[in-house]
Amino acid sequence: MRRRTAVLTAASALAGTLALAGCSGSGSGSGSGSGSGEAELSVSGPYMPQPVSADMAAGFLTVTNKGGAGDELTSVTSEVAGQVTMHSTMGGAMQEKSSFAVPAHGQLVFKSGGNHLMFEKLKRKPEQGQTVTVKLTFAKSGPLTVEMPVKSATYNPSTGH
Ligand code: CU
Repeated sequence: MRRRTAVLTAASALAGTLALAGCSGSGSGSGSGSGSGEAELSVSGPYMPQPVSADMAAGFLTVTNKGGAGDELTSVTSEVAGQVTMHSTMGGAMQEKSSFAVPAHGQLVFKSGGNHLMFEKLKRKPEQGQTVTVKLTFAKSGPLTVEMPVKSATYNPSTGH
């Protein structure tokens, strides 16, 4: 029956809206809700190749934004490093950047040969099999904490080893 279908559709649309509002954290609170658009960020595929030296390591991950508004990664910190810097790679030369855009409905990708994180002033040398805690801070969204596994020095995420 038509009417019944319409009611079910409306109910599930409402449930969807509520679920989204629940995820997005710091909303305006008074229930104006849908449409304004907020970034909805998650991190996938983090890893650190075991560093060859004891003073510097690289890190890679992907930030996915399922929300309707862009955000910006503004800083990265880790318990293992005195400082974490963000770099882009342009024509083989790397350049330090103070922030990276995370576009609405898009991704910010850090991968070998491209954008990367550099862990400097290491407090200990990360060894394969360990994990390193990394905190990502954004311009608008709340911070995300990631457990980044340490892989072999030659780890390739597309082959898995
Ligand atoms: Cu670099």
